Order: sequence, then C-alpha cells, then structure tokens
Amino acid sequence: MAELLGLGCSHGPIILTPPEVWAKGRERVMARVPNYEPPAQLIEELGDDNGLSQDISDHKKVVESFKVLRDRLHDWNPDVLMVIGDDQAENFLQDNLPPFCLYTGAEVDGYPFQRPAARTNLWDAAPETKFTFQCPKDFARGMRNFLIRDGFDMSSSSALKGWDWGLAHAIINPLVYLDPDGKFPLLPLFVNCYGEEAGLDYPPRPTPKRCYELGQGIRRFLDTRDERVAVVASSSWSHSFLAHRFQCMSIDIETDRRYLDMLRKGQGSKLAELTPEELQESGDHEILNWIIALGVLGDVPAEIVDVRESQTQLAYRVAAIWN
Ligand SMILES: [Fe+2]
Repeated sequence: MAELLGLGCSHGPIILTPPEVWAKGRERVMARVPNYEPPAQLIEELGDDNGLSQDISDHKKVVESFKVLRDRLHDWNPDVLMVIGDDQAENFLQDNLPPFCLYTGAEVDGYPFQRPAARTNLWDAAPETKFTFQCPKDFARGMRNFLIRDGFDMSSSSALKGWDWGLAHAIINPLVYLDPDGKFPLLPLFVNCYGEEAGLDYPPRPTPKRCYELGQGIRRFLDTRDERVAVVASSSWSHSFLAHRFQCMSIDIETDRRYLDMLRKGQGSKLAELTPEELQESGDHEILNWIIALGVLGDVPAEIVDVRESQTQLAYRVAAIWN
C-alpha cells in the first residue's frame, strides 16, 4: 500500500526573486496583453509605490509557506519525490509534445537562474548555477510500464534535449526550496498544461478528467509498492494573462476560491469534472498538475498553508499539504 504525502505549491520565477524586481516582471507580462486595463483591485494594490509594499508582504508569505512545505517534506523523509509540473515549451517543443511524460533517466540537472526573470535572485546565485538530482529510474520505468499495461499510454524520456537548461522551471523552481541538495530521488512528470494556448502547432492540453484518471492509475501502481512517495503539484491556479473571461487582465479569484473550498473539504475529485472550456475561461490551465496529484491522493482534505489572492502576483497562489 502506498504511503503518501502531498504538497501543492507555485513555481513562477517570482518565488526565486526579491520583491524589489517583481514590478519589472509584472510590467513585462502586462505589456504583452493588448489594450491592458488593470482591474480596480490591482490599482489599489499598486498604491503609490508601484506595488512594492504589497510585493514585500506577499514575498514574505511565499517564502514562509515554502519553508513550511520544506520542513514537512524533510520530516516525512520520502523514498521518492515526484514533482508534477508543466513544461512550457522548454524541453517539449512542436516536434514532440506529449500530453504527459515521465522522466525515466538516472540523473537530471536544472538551472533555475538561467531564465532572465530569475537572474536577480534571493541567493545572489550566478545564472550558471546547476542543481543535480538522482532519479529512481527503475521505479519510474516500473510506473510507466504499469500505466501502459493498466490502459494508460504513458510516454517517457530518459534525456531532456529541448533546451540547454535541463528541468522545466515548473519542476526546478520549487526544488530550490524543497530539496536543493537533491536528498530525495526525484521523479519528474511533465504535463502539457498550456496546450493550444502556446500556438496552433501545439496539441490541446489533456482534459481534467484524463488528468484525474492518470492520478488514479499512478495510485494503483503505488499501491503495489513499498516506497513512501511525496507528490508535489507545482503550479499557480488562474493566471491573469490566461484568464480569457477577463480578456487576460485579471486573475479569476471567485473561481479559484470555489476550487479552494473543494480542496479544504476533501472534494478534489470534483475538479475532474471541469470542462476544458472552463479552464480556458478562468486561466486555470496549470491546475491540471494539481488534478493529477488529487487523483493520486484521493479525496483527503487539504491543509491550506497559504493563499495569495493579490492581482499584483498575476496568478492565484496556493500552498497546501495532504498528509
Ligand atoms: Fe507556470
């Protein structure tokens, strides 16, 4: 039977950077939206210091919540650390973009500070700083093989070749907090959350139902094993620049509060009923990572560690634990 710990967190580059540089990133994203008009809440949060006070207070909470998650993870001491995150046209490009891909290599690297958005970072680390992780390749192959024989056509990769910086930021950024020394064998699962949003050559993202079913299949595999597995769902929820309901100008707080309520009550399986259109409208594309984790964990009430609802963050940020 599986022994599981669940963690949910965000992965945007701002988690790695000091609040003093957040405004620059925010302005860059807002400039990409045609005829951008800030929502009233955002104007209020920007105040008379271009959002710096708000950013300082949010930054403190983000860092504190990662410390809570990190401590719980290390106290629990898993045999395998599975991180579910989306690859945003990093390793997986137009030539080969599977809905899901398990990493089955023996080792993997990540360079979280290479991205321009994370060059100025909290650790004053150089862009070429490399993080290396050992991976449980036999366990990963076993999971892949089980899933395929169980009816789920899982793809796998034992080498990341799309770009030079190794792991996608959705996987490596939280690891800078959760396991920077690579203490736990790392099993990345990549998910095509952006889908057609990334361009017409990209296949649609998998449905919430299919993501939940994948999680259930992974759970069936884990129930055949003895390893203690920590499962990390890595992503913010609605993103302002993806929330088509608000012309990509505002995060969908109301919708995300509804989802949060489901998680608190241990009704995560309800998220499997969301339609692709609902995700597209609210900008919750990346919550698919959480839905897979919920399929693994089952309807267990989540302990909500932190919720960031600031429009200045450009994304709804939740930190959670299932134990
Ligand atoms: Fe993301």
